[in-house]
Amino acid sequence: MSISRRTFLAITLGAGVAGTGCYLFQPKETALRGSQFVNPLIIPSVLNGKVRDGRRTFELTVQKGLTSFFKGSKTPTMGYNGSYLGPTVRVRRGEHVSFKIRNKLQEETTVHWHGLHVPAVMDGGPHQKIAVDDEWEPEFTIDQPAATLWYHSHQFQKTAVQVYQGLAGLFYVDDEKSESLPIPSEYGVDDFPIVIQDRMFNRDNSFYYSDSMHDQMMGMIGDIFLVNGVVNPFLAVKRRRIRLRILNGANAQTYFLRFSDRREFFQIATDGGFLEIPVVLNELRIAAGERAEILVDLMPNDDVVLENSPRGGSARGGMMNRGSRNTVTGILRLIGNGAPAKTERIPSTLSTVRNWLPEKAVKTRRLVFQMGMGMMSGSGGRFTINGRSIDINRIDQIVKLNDIEIWELVNRSPIAHPVHIHDIQFRILDRNGKTPPENERGLKDTVLVEPNETVRVITQFETFADDKSPYMFHCHILEHEDGGMMGQFLVKQ
Ligand code: C2O
Ligand code: CU
Ligand code: CU
Repeated sequence: MSISRRTFLAITLGAGVAGTGCYLFQPKETALRGSQFVNPLIIPSVLNGKVRDGRRTFELTVQKGLTSFFKGSKTPTMGYNGSYLGPTVRVRRGEHVSFKIRNKLQEETTVHWHGLHVPAVMDGGPHQKIAVDDEWEPEFTIDQPAATLWYHSHQFQKTAVQVYQGLAGLFYVDDEKSESLPIPSEYGVDDFPIVIQDRMFNRDNSFYYSDSMHDQMMGMIGDIFLVNGVVNPFLAVKRRRIRLRILNGANAQTYFLRFSDRREFFQIATDGGFLEIPVVLNELRIAAGERAEILVDLMPNDDVVLENSPRGGSARGGMMNRGSRNTVTGILRLIGNGAPAKTERIPSTLSTVRNWLPEKAVKTRRLVFQMGMGMMSGSGGRFTINGRSIDINRIDQIVKLNDIEIWELVNRSPIAHPVHIHDIQFRILDRNGKTPPENERGLKDTVLVEPNETVRVITQFETFADDKSPYMFHCHILEHEDGGMMGQFLVKQ
């Protein structure tokens, strides 16, 4: 049962006010907002691993740390091999890779490979827990097209707070295609990792994280943007054309990205890899968990800001958000320093994107996303899929190996949900019966489903069957996921 919009407004507005009254610390005033983009963007280091006996091995340590987001103060954070976020793990299609992951936190965690096609026991979901001081050594073969993927904590009911503190990093897959396309591909020179997050800070510059009903319902939305963990960043580029590999690493917020001068840019890749053709845009909607690669040209002396221009509408809750967040906020300043070069055309075709014909689907599954009455009593069962919250001991769907299926994602709640399915990449068939926009016609693992929207996706479940260990599907608003909007599926022989 879904609550009416009026009830919903009453609850959230009420909770918002109550929340304000009971801040343990006053949230920091956002004095740094504005166009003071004075901090050089940090480019995460690349982790190439070591090749031994025909396999590439990586070491990751999950650790606590202190990060200086503001001059003269330190914020307690978490990271991989560092204090906040993690290195960019880089692998090539066809490689056999293994990891040695040490948990040096004082709490349990997991490391999930978001977007990667791997066996369920290697997936790093809530079942692959790493105890304190313990190690986890997953290994798998990379078997999917070049893409910008990511990794993050998937600790059961703790994903939101662990990711918020910094447990996320990028995971690049390269292949022949990505290595031969005439597009910018020099890491940190003309090919930049761009992890965008929003956070709230307390006055003492510690992270503000709240489990108020408002923040659970809307997801935790901050008023300070971070790019690769840097507040108010700038990037001076030495090449005329650059590629930004954008990850929306937010807990909850959907971003509407554009440049301050509204210049055009090209989207060349979605979650799971290259699009077939570059798509010209001047605004990009990107929900939590989604990735997009874009190309943008910067002339010498160009000085533009990548900004978020939020909608008043449902996609981010509009007026229901705390404060006046429907204002445009700068995220990253880009300064063109490169000598003018000859204009190279962007390739008119990028790749062939795998697709599945709806006629070949053997099954359609319907998943209905709701926020139920339990909201009011706080009695659990609040965030549901098909009327049920996650039960870690229950399997919700069983898929037959190699089957092509259509999953119909139905949003019957007043908030947009970015729906993510593990193991596979899918194609979007339609949104409320309409063909998706051009920049969504690529491989996807996360798709935003708006209120009153039904999105049909199609995919094939291949390679890995397991009778016991499930994969997850869930809303990628991490507070919703932790609140129960998650289910489990088995892929069986
Ligand atoms: Cu990005 Cu189930 O996670
Ligand atoms: Cu995932
Ligand atoms: Cu959600």
